[in-house]
Formats: sequence, structure tokens, C-alpha cells
Amino acid sequence: HAADAFRTDLMTITRFVLNEQSKHPESRGDFSILLSHIVLGCKFVCSAVNKGEEQKKLDVLSNEVFVKALVSSGRTCILVSEEDEDAIIVEPSKRGRYCVVFDPLDGSSNIDCGVSIGTIFGIYMIKDGDEATLEDVLQPGKNMVAAGYCMYGSSCTLVLSTGSGVNGFTLDPSLGEFILTHADIKIPKKGKIYSVNEGNAKNWDGPTAKFVEKCKYPTDGSSAKSLRYIGSMVADVHRTLLYGGVFLYPADKKSPNGKLRVLYEVFPMSFLMEQAGGQSFTGKERALDLVPKKIHERSPIFLGSYDDVEEIKALYAAEE
Ligand code: AHG
Ligand code: MN
Ligand code: MN
Ligand code: MN
Repeated sequence: HAADAFRTDLMTITRFVLNEQSKHPESRGDFSILLSHIVLGCKFVCSAVNKGEEQKKLDVLSNEVFVKALVSSGRTCILVSEEDEDAIIVEPSKRGRYCVVFDPLDGSSNIDCGVSIGTIFGIYMIKDGDEATLEDVLQPGKNMVAAGYCMYGSSCTLVLSTGSGVNGFTLDPSLGEFILTHADIKIPKKGKIYSVNEGNAKNWDGPTAKFVEKCKYPTDGSSAKSLRYIGSMVADVHRTLLYGGVFLYPADKKSPNGKLRVLYEVFPMSFLMEQAGGQSFTGKERALDLVPKKIHERSPIFLGSYDDVEEIKALYAAEE
């Protein structure tokens, strides 16, 4: 019985990644070790969130846990966290080849009311023998070797891509293991949902305003889209990935670069979207082509179902 086989042949995230790596003979198992340290951080934050720790503490706590877990993996050289103004350069004795950019706790305004929050991460790799510098993380998102997020919601779900598709793993609390539950996630080609903070509408640019107008009053005979906005990027993107549609945090007159951060919000989510068959666009270019100049740089972002993002691109092209 297929379902039974699935229940007894447990595909843990560790087993999954080791399988994937065995296809690459040059890989040295370093990635699985790094990932196991990220997974440990996610389990810790998940348990802290479930205990209902205070918001301020939880932000700081999550960051400390991830920084320590990443450094102690012995596989990292540079860390960029939303919570730290400067990049962390790992001391030589603990240094490895991976650079990790992360948002330890995303959706912090939702902590105190128990709404889903998450952790986002992206991973770059330096060349063999190279000394690590800031240049190694100021790279376009397409150079990432892996990206993912963990959502602390009604269940704890880790979604990961190492560049060959997207897979989702759910934490089984009794086992303490992330088990493959969403194999090879593909985003629907077109969606019925749009997700944006409409409170900013008065300051939007023309194409954003036109797109949202079309969501509500379609002119091509299709039915109107539904609005869903949680205000946690992880949760809004997770829903977009599974149900389809589009998530946007556009530029506006007050914030010409939008709100979301390129390295640890825009890039990892764009990487996952493309790997799932969707698209991600900044209003000017493919998001993963962007070359950040500063580690905490922001960018407008439109991501989701292929056809929906195509519509947004057309509206921006018509503007020129
Ligand atoms: P963070 O909690 O890491 O600072 O990020 C919050 C972000 C993101 O999760 C979400 O998409 C966005 O802020 C929501 O912003 P608005 O409240 O402006 O809609
Ligand atoms: Mn965030
Ligand atoms: Mn954050
Ligand atoms: Mn923040």
C-alpha cells in the first residue's frame, strides 16, 4: 500500500539532501552539515514560538541561535543577518566555504498575536581557497547555491531548494525530524489570489495601481482575484507557492525601493519561485539578476505564478 510505505519509509530532510548530494561526486558532505545546523536553529525557534516568548526577546534570541549554530557548523565564512548591521566574518579556525544570508525572524509584527512567522535563508559559496570578503555576498541571487524558509505556523514547515526544484518538509514534533511532505512543489501557472498591503495604495506607481485594479475589475472576462495579506512574507509567499497568485511589495512614493531586503528576503523567495516554475520581478528586471551594492539594500518585488507576473511585466514595459 503506497500510503503505508510513505509512512514507514521516512524521508527526513537529512536523508533527502544526502541523496541529492550523492548525485554530485564533487560534493564533500559540507552542505548537509551546514543544513543540519540551520535545521537545528529552525527547531529551536519553532519551540520558542510555541512557548509564546515575548516579541523583543524572540527576535534577539532567534538571531543569537542562528549565528551560533552557523558559526559552530564550521562550514561558514560570512553571515549577513537582518538583525545585525554589519556582516559577521567567521574567525579563521571555524571557517568554511559557505556564506549565509538570513532573516532570523520574519513577520515580527505578528509574534504577539500568534499569527505565522518564519525564518528565511540564502546560501552562497566562495571559491576553493579564496579569502572571504563582502564581495562574496554582494552577488546576484542567481548565484545562490540554495535558499529556503521555515514557517512557524499551525505546523512547522521548511521549504528548500538546492537548485533542482523545491521540496517541503514538515516537522514531526514527536520525532524531532523534518519529513518530506511536499515533494517537488510547482506553483500554479496562474492564480486567483493577490497579496499586497493596500494601505499604501495612495503612494503606488502607475503599473502597480493598474495591476491591482485589474485584480479587482478584470477587463478580460476572467473573475476577480481574492485578496489575502498576512503581513509575514514567509506566510504570504508560502500560500502563494502552494495556491498560486501573486505577492507584491512594490515601490511607493515614500519608499522608492519598497520595504523588503534584497539579500535575505527578495533573493531566497525569488530563487524558490523560479525553481517552482514561477517568476520574480523588481519592476525593472528579473529579481535574481539584481546586483546588491549594500548588504541591507531593499528592492520592490512582484513574485508568484508565471502568468500573473507576466502581466505585471507587461504593465511596466508599457510605462516606458
Ligand atoms: P521583519 O519582521 O523581518 O522586519 O519583516 C517584515 C516584513 C515582511 O515579513 C512582510 O512581508 C512585510 O514586512 C509587511 O510589511 P507591511 O507591514 O508594511 O505590510
Ligand atoms: Mn523580514
Ligand atoms: Mn526579521
Ligand atoms: Mn525587522
